[in-house]
Amino acid sequence: MDCRRVLVASLLAIQALGRLVFSPSELTQTEYDFVIVGVGTAGSVLASRLSEDPSVSVLAIEAGGSNEDVLATIAPFLAVSLPGTSVDWNYTTPPIEGYNNRTLGYTRGYGLGGSSVLNLLTWNRGSIDLWNRWASLTGDSGWSWDAMEPYWLKVDNFVSQNATGKYDPLAHGYSGEVNTSLPGWPTELDPLVCKASAELGGRFAWTQDHNSGTFLGTSYMQSAIGGGERSSAATAYLYPVIERANLDVLVNTRVAKLVEGSSKSGTLSFTSAVLSQGPEDEGVTINAAKEVILSAGVFGTPQILQLSGIGAKSSIENLGISTIVDLPDVGEFLKDHPAVAAYYLVNSNNTFDSLLRNSTLFADTLAEWQATRSGRFVDSPANTYTFLRWPEESDIYAIHGDPSSGETSGHMEVIFVDGFAQFGPLAQPAEGSFLTLLAGVVSPTTNGSVTLNTTNIFDQPTIAPDFIASEFDQATMVQVLKDVETFMNASAWKDFIIGPYGDFANATTDALKLQFVRKYGSNINHPVGTARMSPREASWGVLDAELLVKGTSGLRVVDASVFPTIPESHTQAPVYMVAERAVDLIKAKHLLS
Ligand SMILES: Cc1cc2nc3c(=O)[nH]c(=O)nc-3n(C[C@H](O)[C@H](O)[C@H](O)COP(=O)(O)OP(=O)(O)OC[C@H]3O[C@@H](n4cnc5c(N)ncnc54)[C@H](O)[C@@H]3O)c2cc1C
Ligand SMILES: *[C@@H]1O[C@H](CO)[C@@H](O)[C@H](O)[C@H]1NC(C)=O
Ligand SMILES: *[C@@H]1O[C@H](CO)[C@@H](O)[C@H](O)[C@H]1NC(C)=O
Ligand SMILES: *[C@@H]1O[C@H](CO)[C@@H](O)[C@H](O)[C@H]1NC(C)=O
Ligand SMILES: *[C@@H]1O[C@H](CO)[C@@H](O)[C@H](O)[C@H]1NC(C)=O
Ligand SMILES: *[C@@H]1O[C@H](CO)[C@@H](O)[C@H](O)[C@H]1NC(C)=O
Ligand SMILES: *[C@@H]1O[C@H](CO)[C@@H](O)[C@H](O)[C@H]1NC(C)=O
Ligand SMILES: *[C@@H]1O[C@H](CO)[C@@H](O)[C@H](O)[C@H]1NC(C)=O
Ligand SMILES: *[C@@H]1O[C@H](CO)[C@@H](O)[C@H](O)[C@H]1NC(C)=O
Ligand SMILES: *[C@@H]1O[C@H](CO)[C@@H](O)[C@H](O)[C@H]1NC(C)=O
Ligand SMILES: *[C@@H]1O[C@H](CO)[C@@H](O)[C@H](O)[C@H]1NC(C)=O
Repeated sequence: MDCRRVLVASLLAIQALGRLVFSPSELTQTEYDFVIVGVGTAGSVLASRLSEDPSVSVLAIEAGGSNEDVLATIAPFLAVSLPGTSVDWNYTTPPIEGYNNRTLGYTRGYGLGGSSVLNLLTWNRGSIDLWNRWASLTGDSGWSWDAMEPYWLKVDNFVSQNATGKYDPLAHGYSGEVNTSLPGWPTELDPLVCKASAELGGRFAWTQDHNSGTFLGTSYMQSAIGGGERSSAATAYLYPVIERANLDVLVNTRVAKLVEGSSKSGTLSFTSAVLSQGPEDEGVTINAAKEVILSAGVFGTPQILQLSGIGAKSSIENLGISTIVDLPDVGEFLKDHPAVAAYYLVNSNNTFDSLLRNSTLFADTLAEWQATRSGRFVDSPANTYTFLRWPEESDIYAIHGDPSSGETSGHMEVIFVDGFAQFGPLAQPAEGSFLTLLAGVVSPTTNGSVTLNTTNIFDQPTIAPDFIASEFDQATMVQVLKDVETFMNASAWKDFIIGPYGDFANATTDALKLQFVRKYGSNINHPVGTARMSPREASWGVLDAELLVKGTSGLRVVDASVFPTIPESHTQAPVYMVAERAVDLIKAKHLLS
């Protein structure tokens, strides 16, 4: 396929950069009120909101640069081409035993806006039970569904208001920062998914709007898109305020570790950050008068904590780092959604397969998007999906209990993609039109980990998601593939589907389905939980319910690592919501406006 080449040839400078600082030596201060580490999804929200008060000074530090001019971060359909490019950290896992010892690339956003700049845009706030479970696990009712509603409204700006009947008007905000919408490019698949859903009913029945709080059933996908463009934490929160006089955004710089600061706020106040621009750079130290806030993401945050001597004594002392705060859960309980792609050959010439193979068509489609923000590229590659619980009568509950948050949450997900989407080792075949069903577990019980491999921030930590290690996860992967077959057996598909493609066609028993998952399994890039919040007195967890690192003062974490459990949905909107609540917690503590 030529698509990558065409894409690279057409990288265009779309807008001029805002005011950025490119080296620590250009900073005019050595102390700021707040030092934000990582200007990704959560970090952009914090940088923007905390600098609303002109009396405080904010330094936001980002390892990567600005990706504002990277075309594929703007045109939604092109998001799939971003992994492995300049906007990606290019992490890799060690061999994953559950996946026949294959290693996986692990994509994370590198640069302003972080992963919100390269993710696949799906817009989910999680279920009612998810948030209520977090409130109960942390002992803080401020995390409950009801209490978090105002933060959802601050983030969500739903722009598909003319699509009457296709969404729940009460489930949305209309003046938030992130543009969100229903699919902007209808495909022939959409009505077939609707028909099959209506025909089968039950667990597959149509749901008007998952964001009403029940993440079950089949529905249209909502995405962080408006006017045919991606809406990211960078475009929604950061770029509009980047010129503020009290905000410095330092790029191309990593925080190598935190050290005890001179702040009077208490003992073990990790309020100084060592900034470094390369593996050999000794770095300079910057102080926070009020707080350091780690928003370096689910891999970066535990790495920085561990390098600072905050973590499991047993693991960090192996590397000769002395433990300053012994917090065994740092980097542990990494959770992510395992998934596998099942492909069907279809009787159509309208899937995006031809677009990926025909460079003329690709260039025409790109030109259309560039000229008028219309055409196939205004949309992500998927328009519909299903969340399912195990059937009520299943004996899984007796064997493994119910790891989900509750009745409004699913155990598995199937995403319908109108073409051959590469999720895993199989590349698009040279011929044929396809339907991809990306099937995964959304309530996994496997616990992975993030541990240091070296003491240098320029080396990646060891990221071991351990996919499908647990029996529950294996059984659920098999079940979701059975559900795929059931769904595709609906008569709605009979003129469209030619048949299952490749090894999936032969995965006819439970054992063969599990083998299929081991051979082709991948993930949906929703890692969370490596610095979980918990009640202040609890023996587990890394943070208290206000996101302050236990045993320290002046140090907070705000990003996907704080999640006490994994959402049974996509994760970006919960990150934005957590960040918006964190802003209120921080502003209240320091009496900011
Ligand atoms: C390929 C992909 C597809 C996805 N698809 C979806 C989707 O469709 N829908 C959805 O809801 N979610 C999706 N997600 C998940 C979602 O994007 C993330 O959950 C969310 O963006 C995480 O936000 P964060 O703030 O925790 O981390 P990030 O946004 O990753 O931000 C972390 C930031 O910290 C920086 N950083 C790290 N270490 C350092 C350091 N030492 N010094 C300075 N800076 C540092 C990073 O460069 C980055 O900018 C996807 C993710 C990926 C990668
Ligand atoms: C990821 O790989 C791409 C392509 O080689 C490269 O441009 C980019 O700098 C890498 N990312 C990091 C963080 O090194
Ligand atoms: C994976 O590696 C482990 C450890 O080396 C080994 O015990 C196991 O047999 C391997 N599994 C497969 C399927 O090769
Ligand atoms: C809603 O409006 C958008 C743009 O204004 C248009 O493209 C779309 O077709 C409309 N949708 C409906 C359902 O009317
Ligand atoms: C949201 O959409 C409006 C109208 O298309 C646009 O002006 C604005 O820049 C968009 N915001 C973001 C964050 O994408
Ligand atoms: C797809 O195109 C081929 C070649 O033009 C044609 O033979 C075939 O009938 C088309 N199929 C459909 C379903 O339109
Ligand atoms: C490629 O796309 C162009 C533009 O739509 C079309 O004219 C041409 O026939 C296509 N080529 C092939 C081989 O299908
Ligand atoms: C993962 O950790 C949690 C919390 O300690 C525990 O309840 C669960 O059993 C663990 N999962 C597995 C598969 O061991
Ligand atoms: C860990 O570091 C060693 C060198 O010290 C390197 O060979 C190895 O590849 C690293 N492992 C990972 C998972 O990065
Ligand atoms: C699908 O239909 C075929 C043929 O009718 C049947 O043999 C098979 O059991 C069905 N599979 C499922 C999962 O419903
Ligand atoms: C399925 O297995 C049979 C018998 O082993 C083999 O002949 C056939 O090619 C396989 N089908 C696919 C699609 O791999």
